[in-house]
Amino acid sequence: MNWMEKELEQLADASLERFLCDSGPVPDCPGYTVRGGRVLLNLASNDYLGLAQHPAIIEAIRETLLTEGGGSGASRLVTGNRPPYGRLEEALAAWQNSEAALVFANGYMANSGVIQALAGRGDVVFSDQLNHASIVDGIILSRAEHARYRHNDMEHLKVLLHKHRDKRRKLIVTDAIFSMDGDQARLRELVSLKHEYGAMLMVDEAHSGGIYGERGEGLCHELGLQNEVDVHMGTFSKSFGVYGAYVCGSRTLIRWLINKARPLIYSTALPPSFIAGISASLALVQADHWRRERLLSAGQLFRSSLFAAGFDVGSGDSPIVPVIIGDNDLALRFSKELEGEGIAAVAIRPPTVPEGTARIRFSLSAAHTEKELNDAVVRIHHIGLRLGVVSP
Ligand SMILES: Cc1ncc(COP(=O)(O)O)c(C=O)c1O
Repeated sequence: MNWMEKELEQLADASLERFLCDSGPVPDCPGYTVRGGRVLLNLASNDYLGLAQHPAIIEAIRETLLTEGGGSGASRLVTGNRPPYGRLEEALAAWQNSEAALVFANGYMANSGVIQALAGRGDVVFSDQLNHASIVDGIILSRAEHARYRHNDMEHLKVLLHKHRDKRRKLIVTDAIFSMDGDQARLRELVSLKHEYGAMLMVDEAHSGGIYGERGEGLCHELGLQNEVDVHMGTFSKSFGVYGAYVCGSRTLIRWLINKARPLIYSTALPPSFIAGISASLALVQADHWRRERLLSAGQLFRSSLFAAGFDVGSGDSPIVPVIIGDNDLALRFSKELEGEGIAAVAIRPPTVPEGTARIRFSLSAAHTEKELNDAVVRIHHIGLRLGVVSP
């Protein structure tokens, strides 16, 4: 096992080693986290709507835990499929205005399972260069050809679609909001290219579900494109504040996935208590418009303040706000200084982001107040000046 030590040393020398670090919730303060005994403003979580500590969700989980027990005991195709699953899937399909829905254990398994089920040898998957790792891994597992197009470059995608026009099945897959940049996919153009080349279109709404759309349905709904997308995927681990994932689409799609999606077939069903928690969260996500409104305006305020302070915040307009730093070590130092100033925000480095684009990824929550964010911007600006990331 010596090779591991050696390669770990190399990672450490390049400021690329990753560490686990304990964090915990702060009672009654959903926008904060405890780390190393200190309370920090949490600008690193994906609990966008501030629902993870919501009493209605906790109570639903607790009640079901007491009646149904800890685990589901088997795959959904064996004895793990309890009635609340079906009820949740009906509610999800109604929410998304789709024919059917299917719950997966998490977003990683949903993406890897769906892509493997839709494409195989002889097929091609067109995937944005900045898509999430679970999409990339799904493509690798599918054994289909991976046609990676430059980020949001529709001309490049078109060239690749043309090149592969005679392939058996073609699947275009994209994040709706890119997780490390916070910018939007060009969904309208993707829809028209899908029609032009007879491809399927899959959209991952992990960072847009709950946030966009009248009832939090996601960016496809916000843009009126919900009927143009063949596979609509999202997670319950971010805006919903729980855990798990969903896929919505036609009845045929869901029937196919039940038969072909390996992570669904060969893995134990989510515990029933989680299903109860997700159902409680779905009701809140649909009803609590104020959370979406507050989150989106917080995102705009925070982004424009950091931009005005001289930071490179990319081109997005979502509640994910990157501060691009470039150098890995400098990004790590920035993150440590933030912690010293009472802010939790992590340094994201390659391979999660391309070489030379290490960054601090700030992610906001409806739980943050304007004052907290304004104060945070002042502290971030001071650190930026101290480390030479921005000039006076
Ligand atoms: C775009 C995207 N898709 C999928 C996932 C995986 O979701 P989950 O955390 O539920 O496994 C993530 C999570 O980080 C993500 O950012």
